[in-house]
Amino acid sequence: MSNSPRMNGKVSVVTGAGSGIGRAAALRLAEEGSKVALIDLHAETVEKVRGEIQAAGGQALALTVDISEPAQYREALQKVASEYGKIDTLFANAGILGVVGPIESIEDDDWDKTLTNNVKGTFTSVKYAIPYLKENGKGSIVLTSSLSGTRVFSQKGFSAYSTSKASIAAFGQMAAFELAPFNIRVNIVAPGTIETNISDTGEQEPEVENMNTKPVEFPEGTVPLPEGSGKPEQVANLVLFLLSDEADHVSGAVVHIDGAESLFVG
Ligand SMILES: NC(=O)c1ccc[n+]([C@@H]2O[C@H](COP(=O)([O-])OP(=O)(O)OC[C@H]3O[C@@H](n4cnc5c(N)ncnc54)[C@H](O)[C@@H]3O)[C@@H](O)[C@H]2O)c1
Repeated sequence: MSNSPRMNGKVSVVTGAGSGIGRAAALRLAEEGSKVALIDLHAETVEKVRGEIQAAGGQALALTVDISEPAQYREALQKVASEYGKIDTLFANAGILGVVGPIESIEDDDWDKTLTNNVKGTFTSVKYAIPYLKENGKGSIVLTSSLSGTRVFSQKGFSAYSTSKASIAAFGQMAAFELAPFNIRVNIVAPGTIETNISDTGEQEPEVENMNTKPVEFPEGTVPLPEGSGKPEQVANLVLFLLSDEADHVSGAVVHIDGAESLFVG
C-alpha cells in the first residue's frame, strides 16, 4: 500500500474486475487504501485478483455475478455493505465486444446480448448502487464507454458494440445531472486500444471481410504517442483520479484516454 493512500477508508465496487481494465483499477484502488468488491462473471479470475490484493496487504471481496442479472447484483451489493459497512465508489466497467458484423446479418439475439450486457448491465450497476451512495452522503461513479461510440464510427461491423458504448456515454451524462444534488459524481472514461482480453469476448462474422466500407482497423502505428497501445494500468490511474476526492469538481465528463489515437483515426 502507498505511504499516503488516496483512497484511505473508502469502499469501492469494481465490475469486470477479473481481467483487463477492471483488474488493473481494482489493484490500483486497493494500493491506495480502498477496500474493493471485485465483481465478475468468472469465479477463478476474481479469486485470483482477490489473492493479489491480499498478498499486497489490501482487503477485497470476490463476488461471482452477472451484472445484467439485477437480482444477483443487488445481492452482491448487500454483501458488500454488510461486510464493509458502506459503499463510496463504483467503477461500472464490465463489458463485452459481442457480435461484429454487417447490420443486415447480425442476429437479433446477438444484438440483444451486446446491448443487454453492456447497456442494461451498466444501468443496473448504477441504479442499485445509488441508495448506498445516497446513504453515504456522497459518491463517485465511473463508467467505461469507448472511443467506439464517442469519437470513432468507422470500425467495420462494430454497430452493436459502438451503439452500446454511445449509450453508456449518454447514460453517464444523464446520471451526472440527475445525481449531482445528492453529491454523487458520475464520469465516463472512453479508452482507445488497450491491451486486454476484450477480443475474446466477441465474435466476428465472416461477412465483415467483404463489407464495402473504407477499412479502419486501428492498424499498427495509429497511436501518435510513441509507446503505442495503452495498458490497463494507464486507464486505472485515470479511474483512480476520477473516483477519488481529488476530482471533487469533475462530473459529467467524458474523458478519452487513447494516446491521441482518435485524432488520427476517426
Ligand atoms: N480493451 C480495449 O481496447 C477497450 C477499449 C475501450 C473500452 N473498453 C471497455 O473496457 C471495459 C473492460 O474491458 P477490458 O478491455 O478490460 O476487457 P476484458 O475482457 O479483459 O475484461 C472485461 C471483464 O468484464 C467481465 N464481464 C463482462 N460482462 C460481464 C457481466 N455481464 N457481468 C460481470 N462481469 C462481466 C468479463 O468476465 C471480464 O473479466 C469494457 O466495458 C470494454 O468495452 C475496452
